[in-house]
Amino acid sequence: MSEVILIASGKGGVGKSVFSTNMGAILAERGARVVLIDMNMGLRNLDLYLGLENNVVYDVADVLSGMCRIKKALIRDRRFPEFYLMSAAQYKDTGYLTETHMKVLCRKLKDNFDYIIIDGPAGVGENMKLAAAGADKAVIITVPEYVALRDADMMDRTLSGLGIGDRTYVVNMVRPELFGKGWGPTLSQIAETMHISMAGIIPEDENIRIAANNGFPIVCKQGTYIRKNFESIVERILQS
Ligand SMILES: Nc1ncnc2c1ncn2[C@@H]1O[C@H](COP(=O)(O)OP(=O)(O)OP(=O)(O)O)[C@@H](O)[C@H]1O
Ligand SMILES: [Mg+2]
Repeated sequence: MSEVILIASGKGGVGKSVFSTNMGAILAERGARVVLIDMNMGLRNLDLYLGLENNVVYDVADVLSGMCRIKKALIRDRRFPEFYLMSAAQYKDTGYLTETHMKVLCRKLKDNFDYIIIDGPAGVGENMKLAAAGADKAVIITVPEYVALRDADMMDRTLSGLGIGDRTYVVNMVRPELFGKGWGPTLSQIAETMHISMAGIIPEDENIRIAANNGFPIVCKQGTYIRKNFESIVERILQS
């Protein structure tokens, strides 16, 4: 059965877009039909993280507003059998778009895709609610810092209020050597704050940053601990 998975965070810059591209790449590599939707209106990133920035003509706002058909806004990533990006609008007013528009889009995409991954905007405002409208499950990304943790908890409560019952979280940019030194929350403090299951931990690794900057999902590199770790996390999310 097809699934719409929202990647969310309260605090910005914690790794949602990098996580979205790598989760999408893992699933697409396995032969699943995957579409990534960038819902960061005005601040799109996924086109750059996938090296598809020169291919964006139509975007998700064009589809939601009825300006173009779904097919026209799907940008194919040819490194995989069935992997598509629907980019966010960059310079358009999108304030008139409604949650009903988004629900209809997700329903239609489910006819042709196994996984629809929504890269949501940071925060719990209206744009996030629009991004979350068609989601079946959510993954909250956080980092081991008190501010991010409080925002992740706020996001979790918001998504629960929106009726998304299936929620997990990922702790990104972890530096194991700092745990237990009192410089930030420990994993058990994070688990106590978040009342949902943890899908995994991703270390801070410059290779992740370098790959993202070069339009390359890091999981495409075979035999690395990063890839193995991402695979386990994706498995836990799918099984949640
Ligand atoms: N595990 C990691 N190790 C090192 N760098 C990382 C890691 N995860 C993400 N980054 C880097 O952190 C920065 C922010 O990542 P990203 O753009 O995915 O965050 P975001 O949550 O989508 O941000 P925004 O809220 O602005 O949309 C990027 O430079 C990215 O390459
Ligand atoms: Mg982002």
